[in-house]
Amino acid sequence: MSSENRISVPNSLNEHWMPFTSNKDFKENPRLITEAKGVYIKNHKGKTMIDGSSGLFCNPLGHGRKEIISAVTKQLEQLDYCQPFQQGFGGSFELATKIARHTPGDLNRIFYTICGSTAVETAIKIAIAYHRAKGDSKRFRFVGRERAYHGMNIGATSVGGMINNVKTFASVLMPGVLHMRHTHLPEHKFISGQPETGAELANDLERICANFGGENIAACIVEPVAGSTGVLVPPKGYLQKLREICDKHEILLIFDEVITGWGRMGSAFASQEFGVTPDMITMAKATTNGIVPMGVVACKEEIYDAVMDASPKGAVELFHGYTYSGIPVSVAAALAVQDIFEKEDIFNRVKDMVSYFQKSLFSLKDLEAVENIRGYGLMGGIDMKLKNKPGKAGFECFKSCYEAGVNFKATGDCLIIAPQFICEKKHIDEIIDKLRIGISNYTKNQKN
Ligand SMILES: Cc1ncc(COP(=O)(O)O)c(C=O)c1O
Repeated sequence: MSSENRISVPNSLNEHWMPFTSNKDFKENPRLITEAKGVYIKNHKGKTMIDGSSGLFCNPLGHGRKEIISAVTKQLEQLDYCQPFQQGFGGSFELATKIARHTPGDLNRIFYTICGSTAVETAIKIAIAYHRAKGDSKRFRFVGRERAYHGMNIGATSVGGMINNVKTFASVLMPGVLHMRHTHLPEHKFISGQPETGAELANDLERICANFGGENIAACIVEPVAGSTGVLVPPKGYLQKLREICDKHEILLIFDEVITGWGRMGSAFASQEFGVTPDMITMAKATTNGIVPMGVVACKEEIYDAVMDASPKGAVELFHGYTYSGIPVSVAAALAVQDIFEKEDIFNRVKDMVSYFQKSLFSLKDLEAVENIRGYGLMGGIDMKLKNKPGKAGFECFKSCYEAGVNFKATGDCLIIAPQFICEKKHIDEIIDKLRIGISNYTKNQKN
């Protein structure tokens, strides 16, 4: 097929089984994206839309960044692949040093994976390897949280907390995983920033320790702000409490920062934004500006040292890794992203835009179909009033907004808005104006 044909509707949509998609609905009314530049994307009908969620939260530096494309192209021409086991290339070490400059505390040991799911899977395995290395092999339990999304392999699905993602696969999920309650309370209505109430929900971890033995728990994993299930911002003091309970029971605390990492909250990581240092951080998405897949686990030095010290010299210390762990093309993209973060002072740029974005987002409060709004940093969730069936309002509203010229990610009945970090005020205005039109049209259509 020529590249020209690829931008129109292909002859057949039957063969491609699309992920996390209503395939039947899509194939009747396809939404094919043909071009992306800066904050805009274009579909196969020639319609230009503003990107209201940075792709899947992964292109915050804008689409079509020349610096990244050129770094990737150069890398491919020079060294297209290098096997990552018992071999390496300079770039991955340079990148690890750069990443470690931004991670909090001494989370200075960097393990590369392929994506967010594999970063979470890796963190789970590292937690087990660490405890075993210290002679503590009875810790097999993991604690996750309701309404968490950590990805789609078995480990990440097990610690996740979204019912539709687990019910089909319940029979093969990891044993021993327990879930804390989520942090969204009924009184959390139209709050921008951290809710004042709900810190005590962290005591769920203490309760799990009391019931199942803290000494049996390897790690507790949370998204500092739950992203995919609707931007659930942690109540004030909640993450601090989790940290204290983990310390008390020597449980590793993992922050899954696949969405919140690399500036979305206004600091490099949510960890710094909320003043809580975990033992591991998982990241992906913005690490390469979404151009090529890459995941990362940053571990505190003690974890690395324990695993290293448990093996004799010459032995493989951790029996884990991927064919695409830190391959040249991903590393080249990530290094170019690091350069842009620095040159364009991206994290401060986000910080400066936060109050404008949050104020604009909350201006949608008056819309009839809007049930609730939450937000932190450059991220916000708009809950739609439920229609007869969960998920229907969100999906229909997403389609109406798409027609109005703004694209974003909807999960269930929540519209998740996450503008690119390079957005100017006029782009935020455009996102909000088009959301207003799209949501209002959705309401009108419901009445007709
Ligand atoms: C917090 C979090 N963790 C993990 C993942 C999984 O990442 P991936 O889709 O790259 O496997 C996601 C994806 O949205 C995520 O939001």
